[in-house]
Amino acid sequence: MEERLLGATSINEDSENEYSLRPQRLSEYIGQTNVKEKLAIFVEAAKNRKEALDHVLFYGPPGLGKTTLANIIAKEMGGSLKITSGPAIERAGDLAAILTGLSEFDVLFIDEIHRLNRSVEEILYPAMEDYALDIIIGKGASAKSIRLDLPKFTLIGATTRVGLLTSPLRDRFGVMCPMEFYNDSELKEILIRSASILKIEIDEKAAFEIARRSRGTPRIANRLLKRVRDYSEVRGNGRIELDSSQNALELLEVDKEGFDRIDNKILEAIVDNFKGGPVGLETLAYFIGEELDTLDDVYEPYLLQKGFIIRTPRGRVATEKAYKHLKRNIDKSSPYFQVSMLKDKD
Ligand SMILES: Nc1ncnc2c1ncn2[C@@H]1O[C@H](COP(=O)(O)OP(=O)(O)OP(=O)(O)O)[C@@H](O)[C@H]1O
Ligand SMILES: [Mg+2]
Repeated sequence: MEERLLGATSINEDSENEYSLRPQRLSEYIGQTNVKEKLAIFVEAAKNRKEALDHVLFYGPPGLGKTTLANIIAKEMGGSLKITSGPAIERAGDLAAILTGLSEFDVLFIDEIHRLNRSVEEILYPAMEDYALDIIIGKGASAKSIRLDLPKFTLIGATTRVGLLTSPLRDRFGVMCPMEFYNDSELKEILIRSASILKIEIDEKAAFEIARRSRGTPRIANRLLKRVRDYSEVRGNGRIELDSSQNALELLEVDKEGFDRIDNKILEAIVDNFKGGPVGLETLAYFIGEELDTLDDVYEPYLLQKGFIIRTPRGRVATEKAYKHLKRNIDKSSPYFQVSMLKDKD
């Protein structure tokens, strides 16, 4: 797949400074106020009781700081962090090996936890509930089940698709943390912090400009920062100013809303080809030649949250904002006006 500048999933160039840019403590972590507050309380309570923190589930779009938070929790709890992912654990035995290797207060982070297979998932139930591992020894009539104790650990699950989690698994998480898009001023703060770590000089106005176009996502903000720095070094005096950031972003085809070509293609398709909608996501994906999953996980959430499209029972509909953005005339018979009374229900 082509690496997309505005894609929220990690690409090669991100990994270079990802570690140094990650906040190490909860107090350094910017934004996600709700989640942060919840975690601060539960971490402190668990520490006072000398117990492991209850299992935590992070869910929401990619690049919003789930892995970062898992790192922070492990550090705050004084345990170490083990990272794996749903698809990486193929057999029940693989998970059993990971679990028996944990020490007390360790954090086991399972990314893409919705992709665990069923037999592996069943090992997790008693592990999460009773810190126990049930092992079957032998076969057929002579098979015996023995139960091993596990250290008190914390499981942190992360998923972009909470709806795909089975309910027995979902129910075993004590702390549910929905991850939200960051607002512009939070992203500006993140950018200023990152710039100081990377020794980049940046004006406050420029930081805000990059923030506005970062799709509510710190990973994208950090990526744009590095690209705009390159531009300012070559075309300017190295310092990132409002002018240079605007020019750089234009060159990178990131428009004023933080949309790239594909976002605009989606909007154009709905407005020009489907008369403003409603159009189903599958039809849309097929029409613009993108994968349904990418549309579902990456593009749609941002367009929805910015209010450029709305969801109706019959499909996606372009809003007035979309028409204005594309500089198209909107007439009152357009579907948006007919269905807009539905939008509050969604
Ligand atoms: N609150 C924050 N403050 C500062 N930087 C942040 C914050 N959240 C995330 N970041 C930065 O954004 C980048 C992406 O964060 P992270 O890897 O934790 O996201 P993620 O949710 O795990 O993504 P994925 O879904 O792809 O696994 C990190 O390099 C980190 O530096
Ligand atoms: Mg991650």
